[in-house]
Amino acid sequence: MCDLLRRLKEFGYDVRVVPTASALKFVGRPTWEALSGQSASSDIWEEVQDVPHVAIGQKADLVIIAPATADLMSKAATGRADDLLTSVLLTTRAPVIFAPAMHTEMWEHPATVANVETLRSRGAIVIEPSVGRLTGPDSGTGRLAEPASLASVCRAALEGGSGSADLAGRRVLVTAGGTREPLDPVRFLGNRSSGRQGWALAAAAAARGASVKLIAANVDLPEPAGSQVIRVETTSQMFDAVLAEAGEYDAVVMAAAVADFRSTSVANRKIKKDDSGNVPEPIELVRNPDILAALGEKWSQSPTPVVVGFAAETISDEQDREAVGEAKRAAKGANVIVVNEVGVELGFESALNSASILDGSGVVIHVPQTSKEELANAVWDAVIARLPRAERGTEFPAG
Ligand code: PMT
Repeated sequence: MCDLLRRLKEFGYDVRVVPTASALKFVGRPTWEALSGQSASSDIWEEVQDVPHVAIGQKADLVIIAPATADLMSKAATGRADDLLTSVLLTTRAPVIFAPAMHTEMWEHPATVANVETLRSRGAIVIEPSVGRLTGPDSGTGRLAEPASLASVCRAALEGGSGSADLAGRRVLVTAGGTREPLDPVRFLGNRSSGRQGWALAAAAAARGASVKLIAANVDLPEPAGSQVIRVETTSQMFDAVLAEAGEYDAVVMAAAVADFRSTSVANRKIKKDDSGNVPEPIELVRNPDILAALGEKWSQSPTPVVVGFAAETISDEQDREAVGEAKRAAKGANVIVVNEVGVELGFESALNSASILDGSGVVIHVPQTSKEELANAVWDAVIARLPRAERGTEFPAG
């Protein structure tokens, strides 16, 4: 969590750490104070002239409890306020995110399950813990999400987030990364997609309470907090994975950069240079299936899933780019298209992006260059506007 704190500071946020007495057995108060540049008291009776249990809660734009133990969630669910942190949870009206960490048995215990349900029903975001190595030699569900991915969830909640759990109870499917088409055992046709935009979409959806599945092609980023990830490599693998599940989701967002072509043949040994200096045989290409077009054909007339595509365009004139993007939306039958300009250090790989969001109504939402999390929130706003209203999620305050 020292790493999470450092990342949040690097994003430019003021961070106040409120450790519990147990937390201080792991990491001492001087560490929290040095890294945050602020007092890190646990005690309700310290600095009483500032009435900290009220002031900290009122001042916060976001509260994240990480790691959230079974004990802390139990206290929060029953409204106990016997230390500074649990008191802050009652005084804040900011969004509250719990990032649980505990052994599998504790996570699955009916008491914890009921507490998580109570917290969610009040609008809190309880991120699903990761599956992996736990404190002891054992592995399972209950591992704390990676600090980098928790930082991304916080950023998503703070930058363009709705401040409400308006995707609670919703299931969303997101594709990320770039598909690769093999030429031989060591070479492929591919693109520069890092998966950052897809990861940001997942973080923003998780921060608004959705249950998220990511279908990721060749992404080398830490596991995203609260999302289930299916790894694929090629376009046809992504096609199969997306089409098999799309109908079970409220929205499908295709942020992956999908290879349009593949080689007609894949050599089973490394293709060798010809010592005579001749150029190699040309690579013959064949069209890949279009995943977005298949989704559009099947679902664009149903209320769900809302089908969203991204259009990667190198056209610098905004109006021309939007016209091409809108034509792509209509041709593929998507409900919404997010048109981003791509090029060297634009769109691909960078932490920033900018886009126009079009839904065929003639209304265009312009998102000037910003974090990929903020753009992701604008995409979810467009999705939510199309979801059947009665089923929308719960509002904050949480606590
Ligand atoms: O991953 P990052 O480094 O963060 O970069 C993000 C991004 C630039 C890759 C992302 O923002 C983006 O633009 N993704 C879409 C890239 C793309 O494939 O654009 P396209 O214009 O070629 O395709 C349009 C849409 O059709 C896309 O939603 C694509 O996923 C989909 N498609 C394309 C081809 C195909 N065979 N099947 C598809 O489903």
